[in-house]
Amino acid sequence: MRIPLLAGNWKLNKTIEEANSFVNELKPLIADAKGVEVLVCPVFTALAAVKAASGDSAILLGAQDLYWKESGAYTGEVSAPLLKDAGCTHVIIGHSERRGRFGVPEPDLEGDAGRVFGDTDTSVNKKVVAALQHGLVPIICVGETLAERQAGTTDSIVQAQTRAALTGVDTNILGSLVFAYEPVWAIGTGETCAAEEANRVCGVIRATIEALGGSEAAQSVRVQYGGSVKPDNAADLLGREHIDGALVGGASLKADSFAQIVLAAKN
Ligand code: PGA
Repeated sequence: MRIPLLAGNWKLNKTIEEANSFVNELKPLIADAKGVEVLVCPVFTALAAVKAASGDSAILLGAQDLYWKESGAYTGEVSAPLLKDAGCTHVIIGHSERRGRFGVPEPDLEGDAGRVFGDTDTSVNKKVVAALQHGLVPIICVGETLAERQAGTTDSIVQAQTRAALTGVDTNILGSLVFAYEPVWAIGTGETCAAEEANRVCGVIRATIEALGGSEAAQSVRVQYGGSVKPDNAADLLGREHIDGALVGGASLKADSFAQIVLAAKN
């Protein structure tokens, strides 16, 4: 049995005070949620506050990115040991908002919107390796753009991103990883991938893991869906065979809507 993982990706939102209020509101709302894992991924500046506010609740703490070096002259970066130090157990890696063309001003990103900070399959792989080395669970995001979907390349893109992220990773640990299938065209757009299709592509990721690490790994690896998950579509998505939780952006910013999504996954 795979335990569903419901993760809130706050992106660039919430002050420390807002983060504290969120956690205090969320705790009682999910007190009855059994058989699921709940993860909150705030901005770096609110990590320690969320950790403290979570107290002895079951809320897990994740970061939204990391750099693969441990320390040194890397202005503006944060590393796996520092995320551990702040209380993180998980880290999102390769989110579509971090992949793509570095330094291209947003107005020029037409048709490729949402891909801003220059992560590549290579840097995603380095980040995954660093996270694993330091005992953080990586949530590895993969997914196609609208143009790639329209060109019929969804499956090959997702397979290639999955394989590339795992270069050099011990195949014996593949079952402990978390992937998030996040079709770029469904992120922050209000457009959700139909549950049947989301489930199918999550199955493609699972089959890729099977090819790399065998059937036991494929049965254990968790594959989330992300992209406009909301209280009213969560149950349909989360009830599907290959979908083991959700990576939630917009709807994770309010404690009540995030709690409704968590409860929709209740085992
Ligand atoms: P969204 O974001 O739920 O706002 O579409 C999902 C994500 O980017 O992880």
